[in-house]
Amino acid sequence: MLNIDWKPDKKSCISMYRQIVNYIKEKIGNGEWTVGEKLPSQRELAEKFEVNRSTIVEALDELKADGLIEGKSKKGTRIINNTWSLMASMLPGSWEPYIKSGIHKPNLHTIQIINKMEYKDNIIRLGTGELSPELFPKDMMKKVFKTVSNNITSLSYEMAKGSLKLRKVISKYLKKFHINVSPDSILIVSGSLQALQLISMSILKPGSKILVEKPSYIKSLHVFDFSGVSFSGISMDADGIKLNEILKNIDRNTSLLYTIPTFHNPTGILMPQYRRNKLLDLCNKERIPIIEDDAYRELWLDEIPPYPIKAKDENGIVLYMGTTSKSMAAGIRIGWVVAPETVVERLGDVKMQTDYGASSISQYVTAEWIESGFYEIYLKELREKLKIRREIALNVLEKYFFNMASWNVPKGGFYIWLKLKNKIDMKKLFYKCCKNGILINPGYIYDFTKNYNIRISYSYASLYDLELGLKKLSQIIRSLSDSCYC
Ligand SMILES: Cc1ncc(COP(=O)(O)O)c(C=O)c1O
Repeated sequence: MLNIDWKPDKKSCISMYRQIVNYIKEKIGNGEWTVGEKLPSQRELAEKFEVNRSTIVEALDELKADGLIEGKSKKGTRIINNTWSLMASMLPGSWEPYIKSGIHKPNLHTIQIINKMEYKDNIIRLGTGELSPELFPKDMMKKVFKTVSNNITSLSYEMAKGSLKLRKVISKYLKKFHINVSPDSILIVSGSLQALQLISMSILKPGSKILVEKPSYIKSLHVFDFSGVSFSGISMDADGIKLNEILKNIDRNTSLLYTIPTFHNPTGILMPQYRRNKLLDLCNKERIPIIEDDAYRELWLDEIPPYPIKAKDENGIVLYMGTTSKSMAAGIRIGWVVAPETVVERLGDVKMQTDYGASSISQYVTAEWIESGFYEIYLKELREKLKIRREIALNVLEKYFFNMASWNVPKGGFYIWLKLKNKIDMKKLFYKCCKNGILINPGYIYDFTKNYNIRISYSYASLYDLELGLKKLSQIIRSLSDSCYC
């Protein structure tokens, strides 16, 4: 899908059709749009450029006459030439076969759209799993950056496991959660997503099976797909993943279990202590390693959550993942994995072959942010602000969705898992919302089976937008429910 984020200037003395021709020629000429790619239909182009269809026809005719595009009735209009391919006919004329042959799958189409729409103006982001820019601790961060800039003596590559300074800080920080490990058992990564990628590339056998909660954040990614690993979705109840279901699904291909026990993404469920203990017992007994993804731990709103499963792991079967993305700043791109030293060495070795280590400047900033004590002060304020956001979101849901959906009251994290009562077409809902300036995360991107859920996040949109967005969403759902047969 070609990205068009430009419109001709209606006030310009250059005709609209000429501006469009120039725009398309520039895109083709500089290689952003490559030979073989299909242009949107005339109707879509007219909508995107906000011009009459006749203007589009005129522009396309000229591009055809120039030999840059070709229109075939059923196949649509494609780019067939550019100066690069004319001048260098020895080179491959189209990147399309290459793009299609890579081993990593493209993102789910809905996620590709979300990733693009997030950066459009005037979009209300009801699904974004990130802290709002309003919540960014600007003044504290300024101080942190100042201290860091005064102390930096070099920005060289760091050790394979990450900077020793940061690993020492994380080792101390983790004691707060009763995880007692030395810096040697910690690997610094460029976000937890990279930790998952490293695990997938380094320690999993092709053909193995990973047990995961159903639904799960991990289902929305293809991070394990290219290593020939499959998922088996395990149902949850109000306390998290069901243990008897795990037992039913274990077979000789099962290689590990991935879980988000604390403020689960997308359902917000918090696994209580008793279930954590039983899960660890079961996995010890069945010899199933656990990946514990603890991205949301610091975002508790009512009471401190139970300690991580890792805290009671005496046999080293838990690979524990933490990140700064949800409670500090996603763009810092720093996370950590706690694991037995041999596993950390293996992951670190592959990480060095992948990117030579996480950004050293981000490692300095994270270490200083935690060590200075600012992080703790900020977290206290953040929890209060998120609590207000949660209350507002719940009140708005009560107002507009009371007869239309049911939902959980999360004890922390970002998410409310909204379950619609009517079985409407969820893809239609997603697209209709996009058209109306509302961005949602539909439940189908996280699930193994069809569902009628929406992941609502109260962490990102402004309070005004949160209410307006939810109101509009309820109207769109109602309009689709009215037209369905349910
Ligand atoms: C459960 C969970 N794990 C990991 C991540 C990715 O985190 P990071 O930004 O550290 O890569 C997310 C992001 O949404 C998440 O929800």
